[in-house]
Amino acid sequence: MELINVAGVSYIYSDGQLALKNISLTISKGEKVAILGPNGAGKSTLFQLFNGLLQATSGTVTVKGLPVCKEHFPKIRSSVGMVFQDPDDQLFNSTVRQEIAYGLMNMHISGQAMEDAIAWALEIVGLQGYGTKSPHNLSGGEKKRVALASVLAMRPEVLVLDEPTASLDPLSVSKLIELLKSINRDFGITLILATHDVDIVPLLADRVYLLNKGEIVLSGSTAEVFAHKGIIRQIDLRLPRVAHLVELLVHDRVLKVDDLPLTIGKAKHLLEQERTQDGN
Ligand SMILES: Nc1ncnc2c1ncn2[C@@H]1O[C@H](COP(=O)(O)OP(=O)(O)OP(=O)(O)O)[C@@H](O)[C@H]1O
Ligand SMILES: [Mg+2]
Repeated sequence: MELINVAGVSYIYSDGQLALKNISLTISKGEKVAILGPNGAGKSTLFQLFNGLLQATSGTVTVKGLPVCKEHFPKIRSSVGMVFQDPDDQLFNSTVRQEIAYGLMNMHISGQAMEDAIAWALEIVGLQGYGTKSPHNLSGGEKKRVALASVLAMRPEVLVLDEPTASLDPLSVSKLIELLKSINRDFGITLILATHDVDIVPLLADRVYLLNKGEIVLSGSTAEVFAHKGIIRQIDLRLPRVAHLVELLVHDRVLKVDDLPLTIGKAKHLLEQERTQDGN
């Protein structure tokens, strides 16, 4: 089932900056899709079109078949949960608990159902006991998790995450990846993430749109997109580190592979296969 459809969309900021040029994409229910691109590619601009924070200059954006316009904002905003790039743009309540309760109250959820949703969201992001703290006094990574909890509590159909791993430490990145995979698997929540972190994309996304200077330059499965090494490097991105290592080993004729592994797990599997073959 198609959830989001972007057709021939361009966006021009009021100062004349053309941020998106004729973008077309579709996102289906249950998918995990990455919008990968360097700084200034247009990722955050694109995301703000999904829930009407920005309106396309030309072209159309629909969510579950509804055009993204004022009339449909309540329905669309309860389906599309957005976690902003900068949590300070999202957090404005005086306690973490209130921050999570705010969205729930807007959805007319109250009483025990609200308490349960708050407790569930805090637990899932590992912030139990933080309810009475002020979001403004938390670290950058903790703020990101509060922003995620406040959106997750509303159980959106689609979770849109702008640079979810920026400012998180390595353990928090691993935990977040596992958390996002599990909410996709267990609750069927569709994931769309914007990032330039090429190492996390193969761990999280099934499909990738590569964005540069407001245009989609490549799209396809994660493997298909990363197979275009030249284009990836041309637009100031790189291969995942493990793929680069294997690329060097292939170049030095230490290894022979058809497709570069994009994750450590895949590289380990490949090396084990090589050893087995050498043993035969
Ligand atoms: N409010 C604004 N007014 C004018 N131009 C803007 C505004 N916000 C963004 N831009 C411009 O639009 C283009 C796309 O910006 P956007 O923030 O969407 O990129 P991004 O891919 O999210 O980058 P990053 O990885 O740095 O977050 C850039 O050239 C940027 O300078
Ligand atoms: Mg951005």
